[in-house]
Amino acid sequence: MNTTLKEGINWVGYIDWTVRDFHGYKTESGSTYNAYLIQDDKNAVIDSVKAPYVEKYLNHIKSFTSLDSIDYIVCNHAEPDHSGGMPGIMAACPQAELVCNAKCKKALEQHYNTEGWKWHVVADGDAISLGKRTLTFVDTPMVHWPESMFTYIPEEKLLFSMDAFGQHYSSAFRFDDEEPLDVIMQEAKTYYANIVMLYGRPISQTLAKAAELDIEMIAPSHGVIWRSHIKEIFEAYQKWVVCKPAPKVVVFYGSMWHSTEEMARTILEGAQEYDVEAQLFDVDSTHMTRIVTEVLDCAAVAIGSPTLNNGILPSMASVMCYLKGLRPTQKKGFAFGSYGWSKKGGPNEIGQMMEDMKIEIMQDPIRSQYKPTPELLEQCREAGRSLGKEAEQYR
Ligand code: FEO
Repeated sequence: MNTTLKEGINWVGYIDWTVRDFHGYKTESGSTYNAYLIQDDKNAVIDSVKAPYVEKYLNHIKSFTSLDSIDYIVCNHAEPDHSGGMPGIMAACPQAELVCNAKCKKALEQHYNTEGWKWHVVADGDAISLGKRTLTFVDTPMVHWPESMFTYIPEEKLLFSMDAFGQHYSSAFRFDDEEPLDVIMQEAKTYYANIVMLYGRPISQTLAKAAELDIEMIAPSHGVIWRSHIKEIFEAYQKWVVCKPAPKVVVFYGSMWHSTEEMARTILEGAQEYDVEAQLFDVDSTHMTRIVTEVLDCAAVAIGSPTLNNGILPSMASVMCYLKGLRPTQKKGFAFGSYGWSKKGGPNEIGQMMEDMKIEIMQDPIRSQYKPTPELLEQCREAGRSLGKEAEQYR
């Protein structure tokens, strides 16, 4: 496995082939926790790995240099998938300074026993010379936590971008041109939608900061390192940060006795009369990770639930809670679903949730008492056409 980013700069992280859950995100492709070793007059390590893998991480470092040669350990982000190994490496490298910003220091102190750690607190724009190379630091708040920052080496045109531009993707290869581009771009999109979609504004500010840097390589904290497709991932992020609508309709639903399902299929058929991509998901057979990824760039969305106990289906509630937290923008749509006797719950509740999410509501919820009649299905088809027409304008 080639781990060399530049001469004297190596990947020393951990490939997590089997992880399948990341606080709700179904990581079907596993992940990596990327850490990097820079060998210069002074040696620095960028980030660590999840706590259980600290021994393997230390062994990676030891395959290049002794642990007592490490002068600086940079923590770009305090989330435990990257900082969990910090107590282990700080104990193994007692002379090393932990380099981070003030917010990160506080977060690390709240997570770990940091007694005896040597701190080197940096502010936005600060620099540390390693000899031939310089570490410079760029605060990137809310990408992904308040303390997040980038580390940049101007002499190498190399950006350590922490969570930004990452993918939950395990692979024997470390670089973007060693993997199929469509696969890693899809993984980057899934990662963006499920981890940072709600931080579109701070990420767009971060992109503006990054655009001022001369970048030849981007080394994120997860997945492959970008060296051949930087333009492609930057352009994709420019779209994702604003949830830029594509000519695409998404219909997702839950159903008990197929009434809401029949409505969903008919709505989709209406949308398909237009020249748009159209996708249908049953929340009981499709994980929410996939659904929010598809919502990220759709122009129009219809969401359906039957009425259960004066509410909505629990599986749909789970998806709606997740989607609401991730805050997709620039979407239009409507709610639909069936009911028996209760005016509460079901389609009305979904409609209110969509309003709360700031989805632009195109019409009142379509409601079917028990099985949908031919007339009601025609209403669904017409509503589906309105979704298709809305999405087609983005072609
Ligand atoms: Fe990969 Fe926000 O941690």
